Amino acid sequence: MAQRLSQTPEVWTPDESVTTRWVQQSYEALREKAAANPAAFWESEAKEYLWFRPWERTVDDSNAPFYQWFVGGKTNIVANALDRHLTNAHRNKLAYIWEGEDGSVRTMSFHALDREVCQFAHVLRSMGVRKGDRVTLYLPRVLELPIAMLACAKIGAVHSVVYGGFSVEALNERIQDSESRVLVTADGGFLRGKVIPLKEIADRALERAGTVEHVIVVRRTGQKVAMETGRDYFYDELMTLPLGRAGGGRCETEQMDSEDPLFLLYTSGTTGRPKGIVHTHGGYLVGVAATLKYAFEPRPEDRWWCAADPGWITGHSYVVYGPLINGMTSVIYEGAPTHPYPDRWWRIVERYGVNVLYAAPTAIRGLMRFGEAWANRHDLSSLRLLGSVGEPINPEAWRWYHRVIGGGRCPIIDTWWQTETGMFMVSPVPSMPLKPGSATRPLPGIRAEVLADDGTPVRLGEEGKLVITTPWPAMLRGVWRDPDRYVQQYWSTFPGKYFTGDSARIDEDGYLWIIGRVDDVIKVSGYRLGTAEIESALVSHPAVGEAAAIAMPHEIKGHAIWAYVLLRAGHQPSPALAEELGAHVAREMGPIAKPERIEFVEALPKTRSGKIMRRVLKARAQGLPEGDVSTLEQ
Ligand code: WT7
Repeated sequence: MAQRLSQTPEVWTPDESVTTRWVQQSYEALREKAAANPAAFWESEAKEYLWFRPWERTVDDSNAPFYQWFVGGKTNIVANALDRHLTNAHRNKLAYIWEGEDGSVRTMSFHALDREVCQFAHVLRSMGVRKGDRVTLYLPRVLELPIAMLACAKIGAVHSVVYGGFSVEALNERIQDSESRVLVTADGGFLRGKVIPLKEIADRALERAGTVEHVIVVRRTGQKVAMETGRDYFYDELMTLPLGRAGGGRCETEQMDSEDPLFLLYTSGTTGRPKGIVHTHGGYLVGVAATLKYAFEPRPEDRWWCAADPGWITGHSYVVYGPLINGMTSVIYEGAPTHPYPDRWWRIVERYGVNVLYAAPTAIRGLMRFGEAWANRHDLSSLRLLGSVGEPINPEAWRWYHRVIGGGRCPIIDTWWQTETGMFMVSPVPSMPLKPGSATRPLPGIRAEVLADDGTPVRLGEEGKLVITTPWPAMLRGVWRDPDRYVQQYWSTFPGKYFTGDSARIDEDGYLWIIGRVDDVIKVSGYRLGTAEIESALVSHPAVGEAAAIAMPHEIKGHAIWAYVLLRAGHQPSPALAEELGAHVAREMGPIAKPERIEFVEALPKTRSGKIMRRVLKARAQGLPEGDVSTLEQ
């Protein structure tokens, strides 16, 4: 069945039983057809979904790079994720099986989820939230997060989810930039048996941000929290409000233009401020639903488990929207993979009969460290497919995941994509021969190239910059309120082409090998952070004059942050101060941004124009030659 691939470095070909959809040949034919006319391919995909009014133009490039998709069409992603399923066979199927870190379980059918969403949509409307208004969601991994996202989308409000592991300054910046009117948070969240005081962090962030009129607090931990009269309300109390005339628990779904914004999701770039990436109702819904269908071939009886937090793009696209649109049952687990023991994930796979597990390499490496006995205690035979996302998966972790977790039968669907792309871009489908560490080839309707700095394609096997050369439906529509930054960041390195920020190479079989970021973005445990954000958190401490952050290779996290700090006059370096600076970054940005190591220095290597040469710091830290330092200020 499979096409012949060169056998180096190593190829693994799946058994035909993993695919119900097609054998490799028909997939190749589809890819070729789509490559000849991507817009026609996406148009035929879009026809599978519900539109209140059909579109007039599939893609409009007249104002490129401000592309528009399904122009003139009207839909709502919630009409596809929920409403449509209330009258089909999915109505009483489980949408979510949720397990708390404390072992509690909560399940919700499509019907029940719709009732919660309708009720919360009604609550938001009663607080004055209208179409186009922004709502910030700062929640732990509980079902109220998808409920709140869907409720916003239903009434045409724009959600901005801030990951629950972020802290005061990161939350404040995101609330301010989005000018949110309402904040939804929780009393606290559980992680590794500890409580994260989300409401307390939110209160401190709100002291610095003025636009929020109301705060809605989900009770998760039951701890006592300060409630400001007239501003703060408990979620469960609001959810008992009568639904009014709509009655019967329903609340009408707003008819949205295809291009109306659905959400903002902030992500790190090369400057200090995070960027609010904008996604829309029409194109995003088609893109996420179709890519999930191709890459993972969901079966009606499947239990799908995307282990990412809904607070990141992976969760938006493949815990919330993609699976619901495809009528799938998802598992959500609240806590840490090692709590209380390192077999927690395998216990969950066994307990719920998970068929597809989609996780990050850093989690796999973290669990691998405890040895295979933890996995071997459990029956993992329900698994059909495994997935990987967030950073390149090293061949050693690939093989362990494949052999120990997948029993040597399950293909590993290694999906390359970004917050900005909204959907999988480069990924195998289950029937494809795999090479450990390669995300294989672009999905149908996606065109990618690897270019040298002068814009010409590199030779086979050579490293270059990964670009996407034609628009795709779930592409970002811009950076919130900053069109120049959108053009500058993504479309000016290679005019007319989308620059991903990644370097890659293509091998003789057309397989892509992602190497990593070429900008000042660091991937720590798969989380995306900007060196500039970490540096500005350090500099906000009174003892710090200047700071530089770099990414150093790390066995489990992929990369770890090392920071170099120049103290202000009157402050002395000490281990206690290094400790305090680390805690300061964790308090301001969030624990994920805390440097692994902080070193005090007398000077930072800079160019004559004053730019910190992180490359030189990195070479020094690794004991490697410093490379070209002709621009270094002496
Ligand atoms: C960056 C995007 C995609 C959702 C989660 C991350 C890296 C992502 C892979 C992969 C190699 C990968 C890239 C990319 N990346 N997936 N399968 N193989 N690298 O989204 O936080 O926006 O980060 O993650 O460097 O540019 P994100």
